[in-house]
Amino acid sequence: MTEEILELLMHRNAVITEEALKKYYVEDEDLKSLLDAERYSLFAGGKRIRPLLTVEFCKLFGGDEEAALPFACAVEMIHTYSLIHDDLPCMDNDDLRRGKPTNHKVFGESTALLAGDALLTGAFEVAASNMAVGAEISAKAVAYLASCAGRYGMVGGQIMDLEGEKRKLSLDALIKLHSLKTGALISAAAVLGALAAGVSFTDPAMADVVTYAENIGLAFQIVDDILDRTGDAATLGKNVGVDAEHQKSTFLTFYSVEEAQFYADRLTQEAISAVRKYPGSETLCAVAEWLSTRKK
Ligand code: IPE
Ligand code: IPE
Ligand code: MG
Ligand code: MG
Ligand code: MG
Repeated sequence: MTEEILELLMHRNAVITEEALKKYYVEDEDLKSLLDAERYSLFAGGKRIRPLLTVEFCKLFGGDEEAALPFACAVEMIHTYSLIHDDLPCMDNDDLRRGKPTNHKVFGESTALLAGDALLTGAFEVAASNMAVGAEISAKAVAYLASCAGRYGMVGGQIMDLEGEKRKLSLDALIKLHSLKTGALISAAAVLGALAAGVSFTDPAMADVVTYAENIGLAFQIVDDILDRTGDAATLGKNVGVDAEHQKSTFLTFYSVEEAQFYADRLTQEAISAVRKYPGSETLCAVAEWLSTRKK
């Protein structure tokens, strides 16, 4: 698959995800600042990689895009909440995200905090109300999503990240941190797509989904660490050099840029090996490759 075709597919997926996300918002004058703050970050752009994985895994296993979309939206809402909170002064204290001033810079800290809270809880409402898959599958999806987002998932990774500032973690601890803070939600995106297509947790195909997602998830955060050193703020839409400023433990604490890229490339090939055997997996293989060489 050429890069142009992949970028067209990514664009189409971003458009359908955003159309679906918009439908969850109804105007309420009394809640204007909260709704505006949520939508400011939710519709600020972003690569929409997670919803793409949800939709593509659903289609890979013969499912319908419509069944995947509520799960895709739920994951993107949780991801957006995690970015709003990640940027707060008490966390990474960043002032640029998705090419715009961070949520708290525009709306203030308390509204940004609440916008994150509302996106998080709203995500579970959306996932639990996925009529296209039925109650049993949506209950399983909600439980899996919660486990990936919560204390043994993304939130757990974020505490390890903060506690890894100004002290060197072991490489094993860093791999765990990265897998939790970033890999877990990427796994949720992929697994919820497969669930939407009716793949069960006991199906061997689900193990392939998880292998793909865990490998691209770790590679994704390694590339994020590299881009913080070598990337360009205008292209990335976020400031660079912030990991060094906070003395964070990252892959570049252990490896050179070239070694870290080699590590990410190896994980990418592992991911591709897990799904290549499925007819229709070309997009997922191309996404994995694209992510390892991305500049944004
Ligand atoms: C940024 O995620 C935060 C990490 C988990 C590294 P993305 O790079 O997917 O951010 P957007 O959604 O494209 O803005
Ligand atoms: C954030 O990791 C992962 C989240 C859970 C949001 P980073 O702190 O490295 O993400 P960026 O670099 O700010 O996007
Ligand atoms: Mg952070
Ligand atoms: Mg950050
Ligand atoms: Mg980063």
